[in-house]
Amino acid sequence: MTAQITVLISGRGSNMQAIHQACNTGTLNARVTHVISNTGDAAGLDYAEQHGIRTSVVSHRDFARRADFDAALVKAIEQHSPPDLILLAGFMRRLTATFTSRFNGILINIHPSLLPRHPGLNTHANALACGDKWHGCSVHFVNESLDGGPLIARGIVPVFAGDTESSLADRVLSTEHRILPRIAQLVLHEGLACLDSHIKFKDSTLNHPFLYYYM
Ligand code: GRF
Repeated sequence: MTAQITVLISGRGSNMQAIHQACNTGTLNARVTHVISNTGDAAGLDYAEQHGIRTSVVSHRDFARRADFDAALVKAIEQHSPPDLILLAGFMRRLTATFTSRFNGILINIHPSLLPRHPGLNTHANALACGDKWHGCSVHFVNESLDGGPLIARGIVPVFAGDTESSLADRVLSTEHRILPRIAQLVLHEGLACLDSHIKFKDSTLNHPFLYYYM
């Protein structure tokens, strides 16, 4: 059966679209079966609906406690057939350990910086303010620490003189769109996993897979 992906978003959803398009072109052997947003006005929901993907909104504003929001999110995710992979793609909420441990091994985030540099928000502004020569994105398994789970891959881009937050964000984003589908394929079909806290292929004869993508 085709692997099923649930994507969690909070806004535009361009990474979700890249995943969906990779499924359509066959570079990712999977289907995006569910898109969940924590905000009802996320533009990505429109794209999902237009493409016949089931959508749900679980608004964090409806819950006083983080644990209750996470419990509602678990329910939404597991309501239909549980996914093989859950991608946090521009999903702007921290998740509790109860949530992350429930989906251990199938929960992946993309973050717009070269982790562990610049976790959290405003990564492009921070990279510019720090005078970084290189910037990019990171894909990692998710645990309860903010942008701190086991790192799978990074996409690296140069920072040019004269870059603005917006020009840098665009350059990083195009790398995000290429790297996330590739990692999804590796995890779903090529045995990439976090084993004993290390990223490895389940087939131990394959090399350490830490990936760097350059723009
Ligand atoms: C991306 O840069 C993502 O890494 C970050 O927020 C941005 C969201 O983009 N967390 P999109 O919603 O996937 O278009």
